[in-house]
Amino acid sequence: MRFVDLHSQFAAYESEIREQMDAVLKTAQFILGPKGAELERRLAAYVGAKHAFGCSSGTDALLLSLMSYGVGPGDEIITSPFTFIATAEVISLLGATPVFADIDPVSYNIDPVKMEEAVTKNTRGIIPVSLYGQCADVEATLRIASEYSLFVIEDGCQSFGAERNGKRSCGFPHIGTTSFFPSKPLGCYGDGGMVFTSDDGVADRISGLRNHGQWERYRHRAIGINGRLDEIQAAVLLAKFSRFPSELDRRAAAGAYYSKALADVVAVPATAQGNTHVYAQYSIRTERRDDLAAHLSENGVPTAIHYPVPLHRQEAFARLGYGEDDFPVSSQVSREILSLPMSAFLSRQDQDEVIRQIRRFFGK
Ligand SMILES: Cc1ncc(COP(=O)(O)O)c(C=O)c1O
Repeated sequence: MRFVDLHSQFAAYESEIREQMDAVLKTAQFILGPKGAELERRLAAYVGAKHAFGCSSGTDALLLSLMSYGVGPGDEIITSPFTFIATAEVISLLGATPVFADIDPVSYNIDPVKMEEAVTKNTRGIIPVSLYGQCADVEATLRIASEYSLFVIEDGCQSFGAERNGKRSCGFPHIGTTSFFPSKPLGCYGDGGMVFTSDDGVADRISGLRNHGQWERYRHRAIGINGRLDEIQAAVLLAKFSRFPSELDRRAAAGAYYSKALADVVAVPATAQGNTHVYAQYSIRTERRDDLAAHLSENGVPTAIHYPVPLHRQEAFARLGYGEDDFPVSSQVSREILSLPMSAFLSRQDQDEVIRQIRRFFGK
């Protein structure tokens, strides 16, 4: 059994993927060409943003977003301590300070009350993370941002395709970012990501910053990075994107099937009102997490822990000076969370086996 079944996906889409990649090989245009431009147009329209920029990774999409606001030393950026390190890593890379605010115990997304408490005179922006595949409370975040004149970057690296009150993740003001890491809901065959915005000024800055600070060839107006998505990855994504809506339906059906079968033995994911869930991770919670993970592993069921150590307790962030007991909700969830096999190609047979093994562990 596979945690994310990319093999079956490739078998199902092989001819379209090869056709798209062949077209790139024939034109020999590998960087900033027509495939990337087409992908940007199609995904911008899909999320409801005016502009999209293909990036070298989700991490670089976040980094470029912060660079577009000129973030640097002395600036504080509020985010969740319960996320993949990239969200906060890019803040520190620019010399700014990540300021954490604890999560909501049901959605696992940043708690807007804690977020507002974390605002100081040095706060420049907020990065709410739409964790596991459902949007954070974007409306509350935007209200706080508007009150304190802050920018908002939705880290939608796990939530591409998710909706909140009829709008799509990554399409909210001011910036949305996503990742095309292979195991993501929409994944390429290497690293990739995208920045979305409807702000023309931000869009202009990102367009040059992702290309070594060039808006005109060999005229460098700013220090940028090599942050572009390549054409081969764009080709893979175009082939996969045409099947993406049906994949989301299958992910939703698989999530609902797990939840119905497991709700009496573990805490199953709760989808907040107004949200849809794309289950980038289908993550359950139980106080017996480590024993359950060992039992599943012994019985051929792969699992993963997203994430075992919250960011305020990571060595890399020791200099931020947080204590072990800060952010108790994040710490508790990190001890109890367990992600189960999930993908659009997860077979019913495999899912039944996962369910059977979990129920057996709990003597049900
Ligand atoms: C929440 C979150 N933020 C940022 C990233 C970074 O994306 P990438 O791996 O494409 O750099 C990821 C992906 O792993 C993620 O899950």
